[in-house]
Amino acid sequence: MRDEILAMLANGEFVSGEMMSRSFSVSRAAIAKHIKVLRSQGYEIEALPNRGYRLKNAPDLLSPARIKSFFAQPEKVLPWQIKVFSELESTNTYLRQIADQDGGNFLVAIAEHQTAGKGRLGRAWYSPDAGGLWMSLLIRPQLSPAQAQMLTLGTAVAVAKAIREMDIAASIKWPNDVLLSDGKKVCGIRCEMRADIEHVDWVVIGIGININNDHFPAELAEIATCLKTCNHGQSLDRAAVAAAVLQQMSDIYQKLERSAFAEITQDWQSLATGLHKAVTIQTTAGGLCGVMRGLDEEGYLLLEVEGQIQRVLAGDMTISV
Ligand code: BTN
Repeated sequence: MRDEILAMLANGEFVSGEMMSRSFSVSRAAIAKHIKVLRSQGYEIEALPNRGYRLKNAPDLLSPARIKSFFAQPEKVLPWQIKVFSELESTNTYLRQIADQDGGNFLVAIAEHQTAGKGRLGRAWYSPDAGGLWMSLLIRPQLSPAQAQMLTLGTAVAVAKAIREMDIAASIKWPNDVLLSDGKKVCGIRCEMRADIEHVDWVVIGIGININNDHFPAELAEIATCLKTCNHGQSLDRAAVAAAVLQQMSDIYQKLERSAFAEITQDWQSLATGLHKAVTIQTTAGGLCGVMRGLDEEGYLLLEVEGQIQRVLAGDMTISV
């Protein structure tokens, strides 16, 4: 109920207590009690006789209703069911369990804090309490396992576009790290899936974005950044960032559904850093040095090594200076 009340107040206009009590079929006293709880959570809600309630200020809280109130084009957003937790081991692990148990779709899990956040290639992901966005999406796209690579690339496109909408410069470093203008990483993406040889059953897309968390442990300080740092030190509303990413992910999903893979790889290339530059790629088979030439239609990286093009699917890239 409190989420619905917040949704009604989201545009900052007065809403009468009577209108709320009618909409939710509860007494005005019950509405007043919910308003009291919301105030205790940090929401600044003005109350005036004959006018009702008005939301003056919301804390930087992540709630489904607040996130939804920021959708730029709600009619184009997938039917995301958003759940916010104060703490989870990992939002990816949580959704993996659901995916295996009961077959949900379009589920979004967000945690204020992850106790065992998972990064790519078996690494840990630093996920401190509040300040960041630790979010996973469970979807069941009609894709073959080979096409699932498009989802990984598309997610990086979605995040980079969402950040650019906030007037913060962002680029993509292959395969799916998002960097800011200081050259440091602001977002990491980890996709997990279950598939058979022909089709993908489910995909869990984990997105970690450093938003207002501008303090990193010593080992990350040189390589990690946050949106606040590149926004003149101004904090951002995490719910607005989450909404922008979910809006863009809806667009990517729709492109995948109509097999518009070229649109995704073109967008990726226009946002990429390191194109036509000398790079080194660390793969499980060893290191590769060459010139990055872009992506092919299946999402493989095209690396020119001594005049020959090699296709690379996974690894870590360093751009030579
Ligand atoms: C990387 O190593 O770059 C990928 C990091 C992915 C982190 C996100 S945070 C939300 C989701 N839950 C996890 O445990 N990992 C992903």
